[in-house]
Amino acid sequence: MTAIRSVVLGCGSYLPERVLTNAELASRIDTSDDWIVQRTGIRERHIAADGEFTSHLAIKAAQAALADAGIDAQSIDLIVVATSTPDNTFPATAVAVQHGLGINHGVAFDLQAVCSGFVFALTTADNFLRAGSHKRALVIGAETFSRILDWNDRGTCVLFGDGAGAVVLEAQPGTGTTADRGVLTTHLRSDGRHKSKLFVDGGPGSTKTVGHLRMEGREVFKHAVGMITDVIVDAFNATGFNAEDINWFIPHQANKRIIDASAHKLHIAPQKVVLTVDLHGNTSAASIPLALAVAVKDGRVKKGDLVLFEAMGGGFTWGSALVRW
Ligand code: ACO
Repeated sequence: MTAIRSVVLGCGSYLPERVLTNAELASRIDTSDDWIVQRTGIRERHIAADGEFTSHLAIKAAQAALADAGIDAQSIDLIVVATSTPDNTFPATAVAVQHGLGINHGVAFDLQAVCSGFVFALTTADNFLRAGSHKRALVIGAETFSRILDWNDRGTCVLFGDGAGAVVLEAQPGTGTTADRGVLTTHLRSDGRHKSKLFVDGGPGSTKTVGHLRMEGREVFKHAVGMITDVIVDAFNATGFNAEDINWFIPHQANKRIIDASAHKLHIAPQKVVLTVDLHGNTSAASIPLALAVAVKDGRVKKGDLVLFEAMGGGFTWGSALVRW
């Protein structure tokens, strides 16, 4: 059996220069480094400069991914940008990225699934490539959550940061078995019954404002581990792999306690878990490709490795993707 596989040619990321530490937050609002570290594992996050937009972060991450892949931007015919913090209500941030990269062919569009955005975008691009309509895709997660935070709400503003990460995918012939390189299986879910547990209280069609992020933290926590493990079990069932076969677990970086509990429940060894939430905070759709870029750059993720991604976020949305590097 032959099959088209979406093989990762390269990855890259970008973080704004400005670092905001827990100590600095504690000097502004009623919180402490201890509280934040104990509850979330977060120590610092990056914040975009005035005038630095989501598309700017995305372009830099995309350029890094293209350089890592060693390919020319002109060979890209599909750009999917996962973001909940677009530069404008429209046009899509993806077309600003396309223009910024000097590309004026192919197709570029945004996808909005909040923290699950990267897994949703990867799945979407994989489906385009496997359908044969496109050959090379840029999949980008990029966010400036600092712009939608209520900086007086200590329950949310300590959790998030800004950043972007990207991967380049190429359609390549495979055998159709799990020995192939590339995206092996993806599983997406959503359930709108939970839409009020994590949301932004504004929008062009309702308040005509941008709004601020609101969250019932305990409710999110309560559902997260179960949802994450469900879609990972789906990935294992679809491929016949189990926790021992996985080389690297690269989860959405929301909260160390959620990540630890999920890995524990799935029997994934702690040394296989890539953790960057301490230095990046929760960067929503950017968090997985940011963590991935760290683990690729420091030599942990190697060709042929099995890499498991998962994410869960507002909606609720959740999903997993299993990729052979
Ligand atoms: N500093 C100090 N105290 C705080 C802070 C803070 N930053 N934030 C809240 N508190 C206080 C509360 O006011 C409350 O005080 P009270 O008991 O006097 O009323 C107390 O801490 C406990 O508040 P809870 O909200 O119940 O705290 P909890 O232990 O649930 O931790 C947290 C809060 C960290 C948000 C937790 O619920 C959580 O991790 N939830 C998951 C949310 C998440 O990760 N969301 C990310 C987006 S979704 C995703 O990406 C999966």
